[in-house]
Amino acid sequence: MSYEFITVRTEGDKVGIITLNRPKQLNALSPQLMVELGQALKAFDADPAIGCLIITGNEKAFAAGADIGAMATYGFADVYRDDYITRDWETIRSIRKPVIAAVSGFALGGGCELAMMCDFIIAADNARFGQPEIKLGIIPGAGGTQRLPRAVGKSKAMDMALTGRMMDVREAETAGLVSRVVPLDKLMDEALGAALTICGFGQLAVMAAKECVNRAFEGTLADGVMFERRLFHALFATSDQKEGMDAFVNKRQAAFKNQ
Ligand code: CAA
Repeated sequence: MSYEFITVRTEGDKVGIITLNRPKQLNALSPQLMVELGQALKAFDADPAIGCLIITGNEKAFAAGADIGAMATYGFADVYRDDYITRDWETIRSIRKPVIAAVSGFALGGGCELAMMCDFIIAADNARFGQPEIKLGIIPGAGGTQRLPRAVGKSKAMDMALTGRMMDVREAETAGLVSRVVPLDKLMDEALGAALTICGFGQLAVMAAKECVNRAFEGTLADGVMFERRLFHALFATSDQKEGMDAFVNKRQAAFKNQ
């Protein structure tokens, strides 16, 4: 498939890499870009050879938010009728393989929200995060008011949403928004290394781990622990569990078959 606002490639036939590609607009997330992103995510998720996905941008911007020019003329009837955001942006929530955000430069508004919708964020030392929607007379609309407090706590999330200020990468790492910080020129190596590590494990266990961690954000502790326990039990029905444990006991490398 050919795309106008993203580029797509694979690494080692195992990692699907999606690069947001509207550099002149700092990768502003237009409706068409989000449709293309959803299509590419779904295609990689359906490809049995792919074990992990990466979404990235360019040096200056991961994404500076939803496309303000496109939104400027929308009225309530347009956004409500078209189910703006939900219809195209939430595709990523249905992706079952891990999705890593490799962030450099600005990750603002919808860009910060897109990064937070990924499973974890690896950031370059020039990354800056923020929810500046308040300056536009709106509020974050792609989950920012919900995912940011879960990531960094209420006080900092409230500060970001109410003042619209940016967080540099050190603050983001200390607050728990990003999992690793690396020099800009090492960003893709680090993200690929993490992705290839994940691809080396059994896909069923990887998908179950992702599903369980996501549960921690959407229900009570008791429900989450029960969900985890059931999937943990279910993995004992897989050949990958036999293989992984036999390999450990016999001091050899495991060869997972994703079964
Ligand atoms: N939408 C559309 N265009 C954008 C954009 C956006 N979110 N962000 C940047 N651009 C465009 C600029 O209009 C500019 O275009 P022109 O060259 O045609 O004028 C180009 O990208 C470069 O931007 P700047 O000249 O502003 O670059 P800068 O380095 O001086 O500033 C910036 C960078 C601080 C990120 C600034 O561009 C900025 O504040 N951008 C808007 C950030 C923002 O408000 N994001 C939230 C959007 S709303 C949202 O996302 C809603 C939601 O929750 C879903």
